[in-house]
Amino acid sequence: MRFSITTALIGAAVLISTVSADFYNRLNVNDTAFLFIDHQTGLFSLVDDYKPDAFVNNVMGLAETAKLFNASTILTTSREDGPNGELLPSLKKLFPDAPHIARPGQINAWDDPEFVKAVKNTGKKQLVISGIVTDVCVSFVALSAKKAGYEVFVVTDASGTFNDAVRDAAWLRMQAGGVQLMNWFAVACELGRDWRRDMAGMAALFAGRIPAYAHVMDSYNSAQAAAK
Ligand SMILES: *[C@@H]1O[C@H](CO)[C@@H](O)[C@H](O)[C@H]1NC(C)=O
Ligand SMILES: *[C@@H]1O[C@H](CO)[C@@H](O)[C@H](O)[C@H]1NC(C)=O
Repeated sequence: MRFSITTALIGAAVLISTVSADFYNRLNVNDTAFLFIDHQTGLFSLVDDYKPDAFVNNVMGLAETAKLFNASTILTTSREDGPNGELLPSLKKLFPDAPHIARPGQINAWDDPEFVKAVKNTGKKQLVISGIVTDVCVSFVALSAKKAGYEVFVVTDASGTFNDAVRDAAWLRMQAGGVQLMNWFAVACELGRDWRRDMAGMAALFAGRIPAYAHVMDSYNSAQAAAK
């Protein structure tokens, strides 16, 4: 008898975990804020799990996604006056009016009340997080924000670190904490949902940052021109 109750409880626990694993909480353009964590010129040189040019391209693709959807955006940096370096200039240029929280020392941006206040001020529940390095600046904020009740989406290809082993451990840790892992193209498509919403805007974004996509657009445009 006792054994069967235990078995039933285990069965129920498995069922609950299966149900929660099936839960698909998608990004909603009206409820999303983008957090760019420590994309600083000195820290870029630590990233070795992506090629440097591909990585910057991914970061800017994500940034242009935030811009296209007019999403709330927060920039933060740590020790800009030291070896970490300044915020990536092209990122700063794209968001001249976004809050830029220059943390005096906190490694986990969530430990900085100014940063948490800026996130709260957006009024958004879904946070799209990227940064350098994945296992520290990104993971710490992602797990803290999840614990604080936010829905957290970490952008895998706009976050970088020392090597694949470090990155994989960080991804697993975040995933175990309920963080959703996505690439920037998927973020853009999940926010856009329907090509009819802004065909030209999305096509321009993808053609600008994904070379293969530019070929798709070139062949489409020449076929359109030929049909005229
Ligand atoms: C976002 O808000 C607008 C205006 O209220 C609404 O039309 C649209 O359906 C919302 N989008 C989503 C994905 O809920
Ligand atoms: C962009 O967002 C800002 C602030 O949320 C709002 O004031 C502005 O009207 C929006 N612009 C567009 C084009 O949606």
